[in-house]
Amino acid sequence: MIEDELESIKNECLSCQKCSLWKSRTNIVFSDGAINSKLMLIGEAPGFNEDQTGKPFVGRAGQLLDKIFESVGLSREKDVYICNTLKCRPPNNRDPLPDEKAACRDYLNRQIDLLKPRLILLCGRVALTSFIDTPLGITKVRGKWFDGPYGSKMMPIFHPSYLLRNQSKAVGSPKWLMWQDIQEIKRAYDALK
Ligand code: URA
Ligand code: SF4
Repeated sequence: MIEDELESIKNECLSCQKCSLWKSRTNIVFSDGAINSKLMLIGEAPGFNEDQTGKPFVGRAGQLLDKIFESVGLSREKDVYICNTLKCRPPNNRDPLPDEKAACRDYLNRQIDLLKPRLILLCGRVALTSFIDTPLGITKVRGKWFDGPYGSKMMPIFHPSYLLRNQSKAVGSPKWLMWQDIQEIKRAYDALK
């Protein structure tokens, strides 16, 4: 059963000391949402609220993410499986270090292997560079589909924290671009058999 296998990976994370982040974590943040979903979102790493609650994307950025999904009729709980490149919070929300990402990668790979999502959203620069080897920044590659594992399609999208810092909704602004991207994601989602 997928549930049992995910639970056993989560249990490994609970006692994981593969990188030094275990020392400062309050909780590990494993995942949230629907395990039978065709759509997976991979973020960066837990922040303060996520570390406190053990759930991904529950702070301000997470609330904006919920609204973005809702705007096209997708439910964060029922339609998306959400996880991060790291299961433990980096101190002061600093960027994940390469050795931390490498140490944690096996857990994420196993989540993908089990769920085999058809569409994978790479949310922000850290998730993008974990999966796609490109010199181009997120602004250049967001909204494009790339080939992912198991015949899936992966799309890099802006991180909601970036959208919180860029409030303009003018044509061509990050928020406007996100609106184009989420509509394309919904089209692709609806087209899945
Ligand atoms: N930002 C992320 O990338 N992931 C979270 O879980 C929360 C904030
Ligand atoms: Fe282990 Fe990942 Fe936490 Fe590092 S971030 S201690 S590798 S679960």
